Amino acid sequence: MSRSAHPAGPRHADVLTEGHYAAPPADLNVLDEKVWARTVSRDDDGAVTVGGIEVTRLAEEFGTPAYFLDESDFRARCRAWADAFGPGADVFYAGKAFLSRAVVRWLKEEGLNLDVCSGGELTTALDAGMPAERIAFHGNNKTVAEIERAVQVGVGRIVLDSFQEIVRVSHIAQRLGKRQRVQIRVTVGVEAHTHEFIATAHEDQKFGIALAGGQAAEAVRRALTLDGIELIGIHSHIGSQIFDMAGFEVSARRVVQLLAEVRDEHGVELPEIDLGGGLGIAYTSDDDPREPHEIAKALGDIVTRECEAAGLATPRISVEPGRAIVGPTAFTLYEVGTIKHLEGLRTYVSVDGGMSDNIRTALYDAEYSVALVSRRSDAEPMLVRVVGKHCESGDIVVKDAFLPSDLAPGDLIAVPATGAYCRSMASNYNHALRPPVVAVRDGAARVIVRRETEEDLLRLDVG
Ligand code: LLP
Repeated sequence: MSRSAHPAGPRHADVLTEGHYAAPPADLNVLDEKVWARTVSRDDDGAVTVGGIEVTRLAEEFGTPAYFLDESDFRARCRAWADAFGPGADVFYAGKAFLSRAVVRWLKEEGLNLDVCSGGELTTALDAGMPAERIAFHGNNKTVAEIERAVQVGVGRIVLDSFQEIVRVSHIAQRLGKRQRVQIRVTVGVEAHTHEFIATAHEDQKFGIALAGGQAAEAVRRALTLDGIELIGIHSHIGSQIFDMAGFEVSARRVVQLLAEVRDEHGVELPEIDLGGGLGIAYTSDDDPREPHEIAKALGDIVTRECEAAGLATPRISVEPGRAIVGPTAFTLYEVGTIKHLEGLRTYVSVDGGMSDNIRTALYDAEYSVALVSRRSDAEPMLVRVVGKHCESGDIVVKDAFLPSDLAPGDLIAVPATGAYCRSMASNYNHALRPPVVAVRDGAARVIVRRETEEDLLRLDVG
């Protein structure tokens, strides 16, 4: 097979003419508030500020590349989700999007719960003082040690993901003299992506237990017979970066259907359903995400309607947004290093980070925006590809974007909406030092995850 013969993948070769792209924005200095954290703005001198601090000052103090996280925006988004769902529902922040001890404290203070999916995330949560009963433990292959720890500390729920786990968790809890609250994660036959959902190709995945073929019903049957666990509900997560509520609607309907079947067969009304995370954010001006109150209303209406139709009391709903809370709150700040104009082909702008701090472009073909933030420029727009410093042609940060044509080495550029799945998926490829996360709020900036050092790299290398 000669398809994608180049090791960098098909993207390496897709040379497109300028006419192919959308027209550049009228003014490259304007920052679209949809994609930037809330306290980001451009001041009169032309430099961009976040939390009242100029990015040029931040770069001097903390270096580049670095993630800058707008703490008040993060907290406001937590509150917006909590208020939208109200006291009758639970919002679990999905820690995989980005987790640190400071983040855990903010979540705790803003009244959110936390979804963790590994022993490491659990440790971070507990160390920062999140009460165990506000933690949900996820994962398709939790180790025995992880389950033991979760049960021992008393997490609020473990989301069971397989038939083996139903028995495993029950045995462990019994051995520890506990009764663990659990949900069963089901695959509802919906696989949702950004703008569409596909009602096929869904059971072919490693997560959950299929509703199809009565498997989820069988899982409930088994869970109800075991003493070590208390089945409190059904969980469904249909995908990520979703804008279309239709997928959630199908998912909610199918989960409620299962609740009705459980009631009919066992005379038990399971009190909770969790509809997972996956709500999309704006990475570029073309994206139009839903607000938390719209999402809460849409989900609440579907569940209420379906339960009324089935004669069930409406269960307590929970959701698990990760990206929708932290994603928009941070940007990555880079310094421009080299600029190559390849005549008739493309302009490459290289920055001091790359796929080690943002793997999403290479991995998912994700789209990002970028802006010159250290100064204002009224130069003509130029179409560029922003790339990193790694030894890999696929090391792309922003595939196609417009930056001013007077861009020069030493300029600072920023990529917004990198709060989710960038630091948390960062790597040490080429022995890159993972960038710090700096929280900015009301004119003060503080490191919440420090930059890695070469000593950190050598510490793990035992020689
Ligand atoms: N709940 C469960 C059970 C999940 O598996 C996930 C994400 C979430 C909640 C949170 O989803 P969110 O609201 O953040 O979309 N690395 C990928 C995303 C993978 C998400 C995996 N699960 C990315 O960078 O787009």
